[in-house]
Amino acid sequence: MNRLPFGFLVAIEGLDGAGKTTLAHALAKRLEEEGYSVVLTRQPGGTPFGEKIRRLLHDAEKRPVPLAEYLLFAADRAEHMETTVLPALREGKIVISDRMGDSSLAYQGYGSGVDKDFIRLVNAKALQEKTADLTIYLRLAPEAVQSRIGVRGKEKTSFEREHSLFFTRVAEGFDALYQEPRANLCVFDALLAPSVLAEKAYADMRVLLHESRGR
Ligand code: TYD
Repeated sequence: MNRLPFGFLVAIEGLDGAGKTTLAHALAKRLEEEGYSVVLTRQPGGTPFGEKIRRLLHDAEKRPVPLAEYLLFAADRAEHMETTVLPALREGKIVISDRMGDSSLAYQGYGSGVDKDFIRLVNAKALQEKTADLTIYLRLAPEAVQSRIGVRGKEKTSFEREHSLFFTRVAEGFDALYQEPRANLCVFDALLAPSVLAEKAYADMRVLLHESRGR
């Protein structure tokens, strides 16, 4: 096995339907072919407790108030980090997480108006100050966002209007979070083919994996 001294944490972020899960699987396969041991996981979810929180959030007849919603995501995050992510990193594995703390900044912060500094503070605690070694942002252009949520060009109900405005705020939030280029950030067009995305992600990761051995 291709063991890494400190493991390597990849977070894949983006809007619903951007193709994160498909990319996570394709990238995991590519890395396994290179001899790496990979753990694929997700937020919310990724632990038995987290899957319960995920169901609670999905099945709720009415969304809880934004702060309550955020705190549930944060509880999932704390459990996930302690019981799934950190142990795998200690074993020298690559962990690919379908969403992490930035989703809360985009959805609950930019989307629903929860104080972003508070989210940053609680996220850092929940993640035990660990940040992703690589974040991959699958970006959908604003036109693609509108057509994904299926409300363009039609007469909208007030629910659809609110839904559309919410997703626009989330999309703008992700763009704001990832506007500054940095070495451990890949911003990819979500409309590229999954195989192309996996190759591009792997090419960028190779450099970072090499550097992480020398730390
Ligand atoms: P999920 O079915 O996993 O959607 P996706 O496949 O797009 O990730 O549901 C997760 C939903 O929860 C998704 O709409 C994004 C949202 N979410 C937040 O609002 N805040 C968060 O912190 C996280 C992790 C997810």
